[in-house]
Amino acid sequence: MATIKDTPTRYGVISRVLHWGMALLFAAQFASAAARALLERENALRETLWSYHTNLGATLFVLVALRGIWGLLNIPNRPPHSGAVGTAALAGHVAIYVLMFLVPFTRLLASAGSERGFSYFGIPIFPARETEIAWMQIPANWHGEMGWLLLALIAGHIAMAIVWHGIIQKDHTLQRMTGGH
Ligand code: HEM
Ligand code: HEM
Repeated sequence: MATIKDTPTRYGVISRVLHWGMALLFAAQFASAAARALLERENALRETLWSYHTNLGATLFVLVALRGIWGLLNIPNRPPHSGAVGTAALAGHVAIYVLMFLVPFTRLLASAGSERGFSYFGIPIFPARETEIAWMQIPANWHGEMGWLLLALIAGHIAMAIVWHGIIQKDHTLQRMTGGH
């Protein structure tokens, strides 16, 4: 039976909704980043995809914070990761969390110290400043690079889940997150 909280055999409803909902939103976010990187400036598809990048990125930032808090509250009852492979998987998950936080944080920090300010779906969050705060802009220099690194880790994560656990090992790791028994 589906539980709200995580249990040692499976992730609960809240962790699953956050995992799969955010997986979809991250796909849309990387589509917008790829459009910016690969298409010409005047391209209509590029404009459309890029138009939601900051709002969706800020949404993901809030969701990452909620997911992190929920994950910490559930640490004692989460599915365990034992052995060397388990420790590597855990390290991979932690690295994904760190980047899921840092990538949007660096750009939001830059906006907080910028002359343009920041609005979330039209709601003012950070007012425009008269002068830019220089140090707040620096971490954003690595926003794009860290974003692509996050995409690489996610690709590795998906390969491990589907190819390693689903096809080669045929263990129950996928079912912890997908439902099953
Ligand atoms: C988890 C959320 C986010 C992800 C995965 C992400 C990912 C990326 C990636 C991969 C790029 C590089 C695109 C290229 O190579 O042309 C990029 C660029 C950019 N992003 Fe994000 N982003 C996120 C959140 C945000 C937020 C919250 C903002 C603004 C508040 C933002 C603003 C920008 C801007 C202005 C650029 C172009 C300049 C640069 O590369 O730093 N992003 N983003
Ligand atoms: C087709 C896509 C995906 C599949 C099949 C998949 C599969 C899984 C599975 C089976 C687990 C549980 C692993 C375990 O218990 O050791 C898991 C956990 C996790 N996944 Fe994914 N995943 C996908 C996409 C993503 C994406 C896009 C992200 C990040 C943006 C992500 C981040 C995580 C994290 C951080 C965990 C650790 C549990 C948590 O704190 O939520 N996954 N994934």
